[in-house]
Amino acid sequence: MRTPARSPQDEALFLDAARPYWHPIARSADVGSGEVIGVRLLDEDLALWRSADGTLGLTDDLCAHRGTMLSAGGTVTDEGCIRCPYHAWEYDADGQCLRIPQVSNQALAEKVRIAAYRVVDYAGLVWTCLAQEGEERRGIPVVPEATNPDWWLYAGAPPTWQCQAPRMVENFLDISHFGVLHAGNFGNPDIEIVEPYRPITNMDDLSITFNFPYLTRDRWSPPIDGKPATRFVDYEYRAELPFACWIKGAGKDDIAYYTYIAMCPVSAQETKIFWVTSFPNTLVYTGPELDAGFIPFFEEDQRVVEWQRPEWLPLDLGAELQMTFDRIAVAYRTSLAELGFPVLHFPRTRVSQTAASKATGPTGAAEEIS
Ligand code: FES
Ligand SMILES: [Fe+2]
Repeated sequence: MRTPARSPQDEALFLDAARPYWHPIARSADVGSGEVIGVRLLDEDLALWRSADGTLGLTDDLCAHRGTMLSAGGTVTDEGCIRCPYHAWEYDADGQCLRIPQVSNQALAEKVRIAAYRVVDYAGLVWTCLAQEGEERRGIPVVPEATNPDWWLYAGAPPTWQCQAPRMVENFLDISHFGVLHAGNFGNPDIEIVEPYRPITNMDDLSITFNFPYLTRDRWSPPIDGKPATRFVDYEYRAELPFACWIKGAGKDDIAYYTYIAMCPVSAQETKIFWVTSFPNTLVYTGPELDAGFIPFFEEDQRVVEWQRPEWLPLDLGAELQMTFDRIAVAYRTSLAELGFPVLHFPRTRVSQTAASKATGPTGAAEEIS
């Protein structure tokens, strides 16, 4: 079944709603001293560079002179400016042009400026907020233990999915698919019933938190009597609205660690997943071990999420069936609507329309949810 196309106005509403937040755009290690890379955020092309002293710069990826992409061959000067590859105009991290080599009167450079943005390294990632300082809705989402010397961080290679960021976030918060979609991974197919849990939304600090006790498949232990080992984990979830979340789980020997997932909304329909795991120094894994652990289950999720319809997460709760075990999805969708993300009114799918007419009230929310 086809879902109606979104209009350019819908896309603009989504991109505008996402603008006042900090988003990750690269791993810190991806932009070394003296390097320039191109990144895309909220459908905008940006040039990111790092000067010799480690300072980052981020500007529109567009030279004011002839529209050249600065990241396509641009270089970093000794003074920490980005130099255009076409005629070598130089811009500092405020976007101010400092040098036009073709003219003797350098006062002309003072009249030239390109848009520049705040940019910082935090928790192994590079973050920016495209909105002005006074317009941002919150600071960078907190990464627990990111600055604790007794913990270490690993930022994995970020996959890109062809989906809207909220679809992806909801997927990472969804605890009712573990034993189905991830049955060959950490999911336990013997556990079907989802025990009650209650998410708590806090619109002051823009978070949703809940705990979810789960008997997970234990990937670190050998089978017992021919059956996969299991282990009880009290997962602790915290969504950092709108597009990040962290999950506290347990690794080898039941030592707690965090998985932090922050989405980069590349556009309204493409999202890059930055994932960082943080561990106490007593818990040692290698990068390849972690990639091998995480990438397969990301791919399991990707196969589902990229094909969900409507492509955009319906914030109209009546658009899909909401069950008791979907409380986190209801909380997440409600909070996004409250933050001003567009609530598009898609027609119900045929299946949910039939079921909904029997099982739901006027809002379309299943009666068992409260
Ligand atoms: S196009 Fe950039 S300096 Fe000419
Ligand atoms: Fe999943």
